Amino acid sequence: MTEKIKYAIIGAGCMGQEHILNIGIIDDAEVVALCDTSEQSIKESLELLNYEVAIFNDYNDLIEANIANAFIIATPNFTHIDVLKDVMKSGVHLLIEKPLCTTVKDCQEFEKLAENYPGVIWTAMEYRYMPPVQRMIKEIHNNTIGDLKMLSIREHRFPFLHKVDDWNRFAIKTGGTLVEKCCHFFDLMRLIAQSEPVKVYASGNQDVNHLDETYDGMTPDILDNAFVIVDFENGVRAFLDICMFAENSEYQEELCAVGSIGKIETEVPSNASGITNSDIRIGMRGEQTALKENITVDPKIHEAGHHHGSTYYEHTSFIKAIRNNTKPEVSLNDGLIAVAIGEAAEKSIKEGRVVQMSEFNL
Ligand SMILES: NC(=O)c1ccc[n+]([C@@H]2O[C@H](COP(=O)([O-])OP(=O)(O)OC[C@H]3O[C@@H](n4cnc5c(N)ncnc54)[C@H](O)[C@@H]3O)[C@@H](O)[C@H]2O)c1
Repeated sequence: MTEKIKYAIIGAGCMGQEHILNIGIIDDAEVVALCDTSEQSIKESLELLNYEVAIFNDYNDLIEANIANAFIIATPNFTHIDVLKDVMKSGVHLLIEKPLCTTVKDCQEFEKLAENYPGVIWTAMEYRYMPPVQRMIKEIHNNTIGDLKMLSIREHRFPFLHKVDDWNRFAIKTGGTLVEKCCHFFDLMRLIAQSEPVKVYASGNQDVNHLDETYDGMTPDILDNAFVIVDFENGVRAFLDICMFAENSEYQEELCAVGSIGKIETEVPSNASGITNSDIRIGMRGEQTALKENITVDPKIHEAGHHHGSTYYEHTSFIKAIRNNTKPEVSLNDGLIAVAIGEAAEKSIKEGRVVQMSEFNL
């Protein structure tokens, strides 16, 4: 395939628009269609594109039109399962925004339906592609710090933003904060540990955010802070510290891994800071100083989104898989297990106990 990859965006809201900006800086790709039920989202997306594309408000018409080789599914989480079942008819390559679905049950249903799908199906997990995170993963997998033992991830950030029709205010529509937001981090833990989760323990609450908001007479029910511990089969212990009322933080994410012979740490600056670089530090036991290196994201790539350049790198990898007919780097199963850890963490908080991953029929 020498011509450009032709993308259609299903769900042209906040994340759909980040995809549009990133595709716009990739030479061998273009957006050829937008599909959204909101006129406002279509209008904003067209302003970003600055050229005419086919417009749909029903994705069945987009499928029928047969004008794209790849669909990006960036509709609200609770709609993913129905959209996915329908877009299976198209046979085109699929990049599905996280979380794959809001429940393990829905993810499994889709995974089964997708067994013999002809195209690439890729779960969008942008955090894997942030340059400092990529570098950290590479060092850990090269055994720079010996056998990995402990991994901790902290995200201290702003509250959930307002979304079209406020779908992100209720756990029933998002899967809950630990599925919706934190599936990224559980995916990272699994990727870094190269092992499967065994048990999950979490403590969390909705202590500060959205308590004074009402939608159709109901107050939002999404957690705004939690600690989550995940034990992996190979003995790696991982920890997540998430707080969503900490917007004045220098770094939005901080990652630290400790192995048998050393420690590696890095940070991702908050998007609002506009800072395009961060340090990675590798400190070996018995040595006095740590090796420190600065990792910079190309400002043009950094500007095209809210995720420290990662959406661009995700697309270049997705396109490579399409062109080389290779397996997705982030599979449906990766999407499913990330949701399962999130669901286990939500359950752990509700029931006040350790949740064994064997309780899910994975
Ligand atoms: N990877 C990340 O870091 C990241 C960041 C933000 C959002 N997301 C994910 O992206 C998805 C979209 O989130 P968002 O922040 O863009 O929300 P949003 O509300 O800004 O946009 C969603 C869009 O989907 C449209 N839509 C709803 N139902 C539709 C349908 N049946 N057909 C076509 N369009 C439909 C809405 O009108 C809206 O424009 C979610 O799954 C979210 O979890 C991922």
